[in-house]
Amino acid sequence: MRRAAAVTVVAMAAAMSGGVAAQPARKANVAHRGASAYAPEHTIAAYTLALRQGADFVEQDLAVTKDGVLICLHDPSLERTTDVEQKFPARFTEVTWEGKTRKAWLANDFTLAEIKTLDAGSWFDARFADQRIPTFDEAVALIRGKAGLYPELKTPEIYEGRDVDFVALVEAALDRLALRGAGADPRTPVILQTFGESTAQALSARKIGVPVVLLFDTRGSFDAAAKVAQWKGIVTGFGPAKDVVAAHPEFVRLAHDAGLTVTPYTFRAAAVRGYASVQDEMAHFLYTLGVDALFTDNPDRFPRR
Ligand code: G3P
Ligand code: CA
Repeated sequence: MRRAAAVTVVAMAAAMSGGVAAQPARKANVAHRGASAYAPEHTIAAYTLALRQGADFVEQDLAVTKDGVLICLHDPSLERTTDVEQKFPARFTEVTWEGKTRKAWLANDFTLAEIKTLDAGSWFDARFADQRIPTFDEAVALIRGKAGLYPELKTPEIYEGRDVDFVALVEAALDRLALRGAGADPRTPVILQTFGESTAQALSARKIGVPVVLLFDTRGSFDAAAKVAQWKGIVTGFGPAKDVVAAHPEFVRLAHDAGLTVTPYTFRAAAVRGYASVQDEMAHFLYTLGVDALFTDNPDRFPRR
């Protein structure tokens, strides 16, 4: 990452950790699952490309293997983005998710050694057949010093009843990697995120010293002022679905007035509606609606001003 960018991104992370004004000097370009429009999500290829495309932060969705290792994977199960079904045909669990019952190869039922045998790239394009699911440590080793890290504690409810303390594992990883605390590694700011409300509260209570962003979507009624009042003093910012911000633009001002940041998701060139381009869409959110940062599959299209 360019040096000037590193300095301003650090300023943003410091601001987001509380105690100082939450308005970053520079809008942050967060590569969603890496440069996932162009390479298979959560692979070294996607993360490397995100760095080349100038991302300020690279996102990792985190899951936990059977042997307790943090890996970078969006779904709780492996079948969408790997060849697990071919390699381990009998190792599925019947799950009912969103009202549908189906077979799922849960990442938490596989050891890291087993997961490392999987092809994590061919589903996207045969050119990426050599890609493997990275561990969080491998992601950090690649990204450290070049951009910030934006790990999400994904689907924490999967681990309830499985004797996995997801929050403790993330805390231990940040300790081990010397990334705990504001400015622990000035060139590698860290921001934690989760949709899990109890997980966000647990992260806050642990006082890890890095910003904590609560993700949310909403259907039906939404009270922006109540949302801000509920979470002020617990999290350092919000990661709303972009439709929430579009429908409730006052939410940005209310959050900022409370010292909280707003980082909507997800901006994709492949799914633009109502704008001429994804750059135009991102520019509207950044410079008209005033959000602080955003998650995009297309970090190369992030509009700078
Ligand atoms: O974490 C922000 C955004 O990535 C949330 O959506 O489902 O892609 O993790 P998802
Ligand atoms: Ca995510």
